[in-house]
Amino acid sequence: MATNIEKCSIIQLPRISDPRGNLTFIENSNHIPFDIKRVYYLYDIPGGSDRGTHAHKTLHQFIIAISGSFDVELDDGIIKKRFHLNRSYYGLYVCPMMWRLLDNFSSGSVCLVLASGIYDEFDYIRDYNVFIQETRELI
Ligand code: TYD
Repeated sequence: MATNIEKCSIIQLPRISDPRGNLTFIENSNHIPFDIKRVYYLYDIPGGSDRGTHAHKTLHQFIIAISGSFDVELDDGIIKKRFHLNRSYYGLYVCPMMWRLLDNFSSGSVCLVLASGIYDEFDYIRDYNVFIQETRELI
């Protein structure tokens, strides 16, 4: 049975290699499967920190290790998959209704997130049991 997690994958971004320094660009809805409405980033992340531990009802996101590295564990309620992000020209597309945990941040890492909507606390599911219940209702 196909599950939601199969919609989530690593996407390679354009990379212009240059001896003066490499360049990567992202064009709205051209390189990622949604229109970008918001950009935010996590930085100054203390060793051992976890972020995430929630799902979004409708939000699409694209997560990039713009500096350093970290892991993203995705869970669609049936299958869990762990991705290691360590290059600024790769990103992870995360579809709606995906529980996520970000951990293993390297020192000085920066996590850039592109999102399909502005911040809306009502779009969050912060209780794992509620998330599981809602995924069962969607099947
Ligand atoms: P949250 O998304 O829970 O962070 P994480 O999943 O990385 O642990 O957000 C942490 C706090 O920041 C929360 O109080 C909401 C606030 N916030 C905004 O105000 N705007 C935003 O765009 C984001 C992502 C968070």
